[in-house]
Amino acid sequence: MSVASGAETGTYAQTIVDLEKQYLLQNYSRHPLVLHRGDGPYMWDVDGKRYLDFIAGIGVNALGQNHPRIVAAIAEQAARLIHTSNLFYNEYQGPLAKRIAEVSGLARTFFTNSGTESTEGSLKMIKAHGHDIRPDKYEIVSLDNSFHGRSIGALSITGQPKYRKDFEPLMPGVKFVPANNIQALENAVSERTAGICIEWIQGEGGVLPLDPAFCLRARQLADQYDALLCFDEIQCGVGRTGKYFGYQLSNPAVMPDIMTAAKPLACGLPLGIISANERAAKSIRPGMHGSTFGGNALAARVALEFFDILDGLLPSITRVGDYFRAQLRELATRYRFITEVRGYGLMVGAELSIPGKAIVERAMQEGLLLNCTHETVLRFLPPYIITEAHVDEAVLILDRIFQTL
Ligand SMILES: Cc1ncc(COP(=O)(O)O)c(C=O)c1O
Repeated sequence: MSVASGAETGTYAQTIVDLEKQYLLQNYSRHPLVLHRGDGPYMWDVDGKRYLDFIAGIGVNALGQNHPRIVAAIAEQAARLIHTSNLFYNEYQGPLAKRIAEVSGLARTFFTNSGTESTEGSLKMIKAHGHDIRPDKYEIVSLDNSFHGRSIGALSITGQPKYRKDFEPLMPGVKFVPANNIQALENAVSERTAGICIEWIQGEGGVLPLDPAFCLRARQLADQYDALLCFDEIQCGVGRTGKYFGYQLSNPAVMPDIMTAAKPLACGLPLGIISANERAAKSIRPGMHGSTFGGNALAARVALEFFDILDGLLPSITRVGDYFRAQLRELATRYRFITEVRGYGLMVGAELSIPGKAIVERAMQEGLLLNCTHETVLRFLPPYIITEAHVDEAVLILDRIFQTL
């Protein structure tokens, strides 16, 4: 179906919305916005209205839309070879895994299609590791307020009742502790612990960076009890914070045994990773895990192209992110309902003392896309290509909205 022209476009958007209402599972509460095309950090809806995109497909569209090198790589690869399954080799998984090893310090990678699938695989690694040691070594320690995905396994280690409640009982053997509470962590970890799972920055939970001292203690406890330490970098990884991975923000870096990542890896094509050191990787032996689509030629090729571009972008992610936080803090001096501004690089959260939903809706009307998480946190995950000028444009819109509250 093509886009209708002129006066009919409003009707066209409504047709799309109505079809979804009739034929899709009604699990999403979407904004009434039908997007049609994009260019850099801007997108246009089917009625031709322009939006500055400061959520980037929830942290996925790292290079915005229509990046010439990504478009060229997709077109060239799609014309040549898209998918082979993992019965055979393609030319890109090996080079991409090598690149990931170089920037992450983790020796081996498994390719998936989403964050949740990466979480699932990491849980299997953790379980198999424990199983190799003792039958009763299957417990997993995770954090309150965490988010690791929507499958049964991922929900089992997700520390937010609202996501879990309709699907109980979930996987047994999971203990939750409050983030940054070292004493609670020490109490929870034992000989029965097979793994400790941590988001270096809790994203869905409200853009909450963990205390490096807490992560370091998790590392020490994992070593002491022969458990695997897994960092979920699905939202904060792959350049988002201005470092390749969030755990590299602390100096020296607290290294995980397993790291999961996904969102920006292939600039909008589905691709996730589970990267592991040799100690963790050896828990998965031939036949124990697999994926039909994971790491197909198209997605892996695009990710390689993306890593080439990302190398040069990291300094501006840090610079523009710092500038953005400074501008938001300036707004906070004038609008007392902004109680905290936090994050690293282009993972930015503004905590409010009022609900954020109405602000997100107003921003959309004013041509700015963002998101609200945890009811009161405005979350910004803009594309890595934005400049200070885009920040100024976004802050101007926010300022205009805040004046009316
Ligand atoms: C930290 C974290 N883990 C896991 C996931 C699940 O990823 P996906 O939605 O790609 O399955 C998300 C998604 O937002 C996430 O932020």
